[in-house]
Amino acid sequence: MPSGARADVLVIGGGIIGLAVAWRAAQRGAGTVIVVDPSPGGGAAAVAAGMLAPVTELQYGEEPLLRLGTASNERYAAFAAELTEASGGAETGYRRCGTVAVALDSDDREELRELHAFHQRLGLDSTWLSGREARKLEPMLAPGVRGGLHVADDHQVDPRRLLTALVAACERTDVLLHRTEAVELLVEDGRAVGARLRTGETVRADQVVLAAGPHSHRLPGLPEGVLPAIRPVKGQVLRLRIPDAYRPFLSRNVRAVVRGRHIYLVPRENGEMVVGATTEEQGYDTTVTAGGVYELLRDAHELVPGITELPLLETSAGLRPGSPDNAPLLGPTSLPGLVATTGHYRNGVLLTPVTADLLADYLTTGEVPELARPFTPARFAQDHPVTKASA
Ligand code: GLY
Repeated sequence: MPSGARADVLVIGGGIIGLAVAWRAAQRGAGTVIVVDPSPGGGAAAVAAGMLAPVTELQYGEEPLLRLGTASNERYAAFAAELTEASGGAETGYRRCGTVAVALDSDDREELRELHAFHQRLGLDSTWLSGREARKLEPMLAPGVRGGLHVADDHQVDPRRLLTALVAACERTDVLLHRTEAVELLVEDGRAVGARLRTGETVRADQVVLAAGPHSHRLPGLPEGVLPAIRPVKGQVLRLRIPDAYRPFLSRNVRAVVRGRHIYLVPRENGEMVVGATTEEQGYDTTVTAGGVYELLRDAHELVPGITELPLLETSAGLRPGSPDNAPLLGPTSLPGLVATTGHYRNGVLLTPVTADLLADYLTTGEVPELARPFTPARFAQDHPVTKASA
């Protein structure tokens, strides 16, 4: 790429969010789109299990996030089909399997009952199961399972295949993937105008999209106060194989909170099963630890004892990008020319289709779509009324 290259849109970060935004923006006529990333298709999604769980990941007080997550979940089937076509046939592993969330002791069961009541108040499709009913749906569950929820609309996708499809779709839509690192945001006269790259080149752009996950706020050149700190929240996961003789093993995503820790098992149609995930706030470290693997195996074994028979293929760790309120930052920042899309925390894979649509709308019209308004970075500005009220 010649130094001094020019783009209409420059996306810094080629993880699942940056690639999806770039693809959609190019499709919608945003002009020349360049993505800068040393290895596009990496990031947290390359580790993630790919549970699409707006209902079973819901926390109290997160109703606006539920609206965003549900909107994205509803778009997933069409998004996956369109991506397969745009990529020239790459499959995404999208699977409408539903989720069973179970309790292993009476405290967990009480918590799950409260969650069920919350789901009912919000009109969500969530059915209470006795322990026996849960085991009837998933016979590999431990005999000690005390009850659970069946959430028919929480599904799954294979994030690695989705990333491969996004890279191919970007290339076929004339998005330029520049495999290097952005080392500095260029700001002139109070406006973001591009980036300087590790190669020494510069790229100038009308709009710069910052999609660098937990590294977003650390980009040199970014003026102080434009973005809040995005904290890295480590998740370790295991990948196992379900041999043909054991199939189906599990038919749905299965999850539980075991003594306060989230554990989930995501069984794919191709026989892979992902077990996740730890939640650790220890900086930018992606070491897989014996303790993390032990914790996952111990909790997964309590939930589904037969898991210890399965071949273990891989252990890995990724960094979820957590904003101060654990919701994403979507849209224009206080720095003209700079648009944010980061902070998706536990929901990056789920929120990919809706984030791509909302950002592409903003980049092509200059209007923040209604669904994105609760999530603009302005909510973290020093003089923002919500920030003041909640301070
Ligand atoms: N969404 C699952 C996780 O963050 O572990």
